[in-house]
Amino acid sequence: MPYEVSIRLAGLEDMDAIVLLDRTLDTLPHWPAAEYRTAIAGPGASPLRCVFVAEFGCRIVGLAVGRVDHIAGERSGELESVGVALAAQRQGVGRELCSNVISWCRSQGASHLDLEVRSQSAGAVALYEGLGFVTEGKRRNYYRDPADDAILMRLDLKPGQADPAAQAGPPA
Ligand SMILES: CC(C)(COP(=O)(O)OP(=O)(O)OC[C@H]1O[C@@H](n2cnc3c(N)ncnc32)[C@H](O)[C@@H]1OP(=O)(O)O)[C@@H](O)C(=O)NCCC(=O)NCCS
Repeated sequence: MPYEVSIRLAGLEDMDAIVLLDRTLDTLPHWPAAEYRTAIAGPGASPLRCVFVAEFGCRIVGLAVGRVDHIAGERSGELESVGVALAAQRQGVGRELCSNVISWCRSQGASHLDLEVRSQSAGAVALYEGLGFVTEGKRRNYYRDPADDAILMRLDLKPGQADPAAQAGPPA
């Protein structure tokens, strides 16, 4: 990742830039602004959520959202979305954003992370596989506009397992 790009947790002051970026990327979930506001608003929110942003100068060029739910005595993580501005893609920004979400979910006690991804988003699937996610199943016709299947992927966060964020090399 270029050393000029930094990753940090988002604040409410980033809301406008986050929503703008969300709207420019077709395959992001296009959440209403209120959904992002809730996700950023923690701590104390339930479920626990994190929003990381990638910043280049004063510009937000990437975002990633994660959550941790407490279900039946187990903490379950989810990588809800990740998106990088077209001009900043294929420079390691998406990988670094995901790594931060993974580390955050681990720090919140999650035993694993799940995600759903469009079957036609080959780049995203490759990104997740590179981070250690494995395919667990498929939901047919899960997405609309355009119609697509969802691939279900999981990353186990076993104690002592290597942390992808820790594996990231020094800045280029
Ligand atoms: C998917 C996305 C987040 C990847 O972000 P990125 O910053 O370009 O990804 P990175 O540069 O960190 O790539 C890491 C690895 O992922 C894989 N990858 C990423 N984009 C790829 C593409 N278009 N084609 C093939 N492999 C790709 C590669 O293995 C890559 O490693 P490499 O560059 O060393 O070959 C970005 O393409 C994006 O924002 N897409 C639109 C939104 C989206 O679909 N999000 C996912 C669902 S919510």
